[in-house]
Amino acid sequence: MPNLKFFSGESVPLEMHKVRMVQKINLHPVEKRMQCMSEAGFNTFLLKNLDIFLDMLTDSGVNAMSEKQYAAMLQADDSYAGSETYFRLEKVLQDIFGMKHFLPAHQGRACEHIIAQTIVKPGSVALMNYHFTTTKAHVSLMGGTVEELINDEGLKIQSSNLFKGDMDTGKLTEAVKRIGKEKISFVRIEAGTNLVGGQPVSMANLREVSRICRSEGIKLIYDASLLTDNLYFIKIRDPEFKDADIKDITREIASLVDIIYFSSRKLGAARGGGILTSNEELFIKMREMVPLYEGFLTYGGMSVREMEAMAVGLQESMDMDVISQTPIFVEALCSELQAKGIPVVTPPGGLGCHIDATEFCSHIPQTHYRAGALASAVFIAGGIRGMERGTMSEQRNEDGSERLAEMELLRLAFPKRVFTLSQVKYVADRIAWLFKNRNLIGGLEFVEEPKVLRFFFGRLKPVSNWPDMLVQQFRKDFGESL
Ligand SMILES: Cc1ncc(COP(=O)(O)O)c(C=O)c1O
Repeated sequence: MPNLKFFSGESVPLEMHKVRMVQKINLHPVEKRMQCMSEAGFNTFLLKNLDIFLDMLTDSGVNAMSEKQYAAMLQADDSYAGSETYFRLEKVLQDIFGMKHFLPAHQGRACEHIIAQTIVKPGSVALMNYHFTTTKAHVSLMGGTVEELINDEGLKIQSSNLFKGDMDTGKLTEAVKRIGKEKISFVRIEAGTNLVGGQPVSMANLREVSRICRSEGIKLIYDASLLTDNLYFIKIRDPEFKDADIKDITREIASLVDIIYFSSRKLGAARGGGILTSNEELFIKMREMVPLYEGFLTYGGMSVREMEAMAVGLQESMDMDVISQTPIFVEALCSELQAKGIPVVTPPGGLGCHIDATEFCSHIPQTHYRAGALASAVFIAGGIRGMERGTMSEQRNEDGSERLAEMELLRLAFPKRVFTLSQVKYVADRIAWLFKNRNLIGGLEFVEEPKVLRFFFGRLKPVSNWPDMLVQQFRKDFGESL
């Protein structure tokens, strides 16, 4: 991270890279934005990229790649079995994590599928600091359930806890006693906990969780998809690691767990995924699944070009200048919004800025998907695509009733090294306008609701003509401006 002092005294999140390839983006007039949102069934997943000005849906598979990653793609060795590319990637992963075995898979959820197929038994319970949508779906498909043991601060929108992703180890001990260790399929710690606002897990917490799991003989799995943000926060927020090397922190994390898996659409700025372990028995069991569901063991469903890019991207992820870019931009946007009185998750996490839809849209009932409605409104207001992380992202209970989310968030993700500071300021401006006009935003209801992962391709409609009212107000306030 640049340790630069500005003469003005201002704190500016300085970009430690230069842009050498660009993509033109479109900002449609507000009426067209409303039409696009309507055609997309008021679900931001169903928008077309061509119609989006700033795509803040996710950082998954859309991070800027370095010139070294592109160069590495040219040396890809394409072969069904025994590709040199695989051995290069394996070596990088072994070097970074110090684990013995690497199994490739086409993305993060494919790793979850393999792990769940191998370990989860019907009726078992997986304990997690917090669930991720696809992780929970794979555990459920195998007949298991998920129990979340996040610390109490983790679910508070505003907190001074610097590691809100920590698992409550008291709750873990209690859960092991109550459930019985033989019924616990695994304990899973997610780095940079996605669904609670990209919040990190402290090393002290991981050490303690690991100690408990090892003493009980329970497998500990670490989801490293958002590892880089977590590494950044460990270094910045924990005095013990102030002078530590990023790679040493990574090595210590790996030494505490039995399995690491990751989506390299996030970690390593490429497209793919992988599972790492030093446990022979688990390795052999999981290995059987790879050719069955993914592809042969030396590509696992990935393009070898992406594997080359991943190998370089992973090495670059050990550089503080590279990994600090997202958290410092997230912090910049959160600070601008907070200064305008807009409720955001604090302290700022990695991944993106998370707006608290419960406060922003308190007038919308939770059953009308207030975070989803806010996501639609933000797109209409500024061509900015965010992601609902609330009740819409939940699955209904067995009896068909809504499972109301603990937090209703709108996530504005920062693909790594993609946006500029003026774009961040634009986002803050349009959201400030929306906040002033928040009473115009209304709820949504499903018209097509898939049973599994409904937020991906479910379609909704507004409960009133609120989108038209919003467009009218926009024209009134911004005149001819886009
Ligand atoms: C924490 C976490 N785990 C797993 C996944 C799944 O990865 P993928 O999208 O590559 O399937 C994601 C994706 O966003 C994630 O954020």
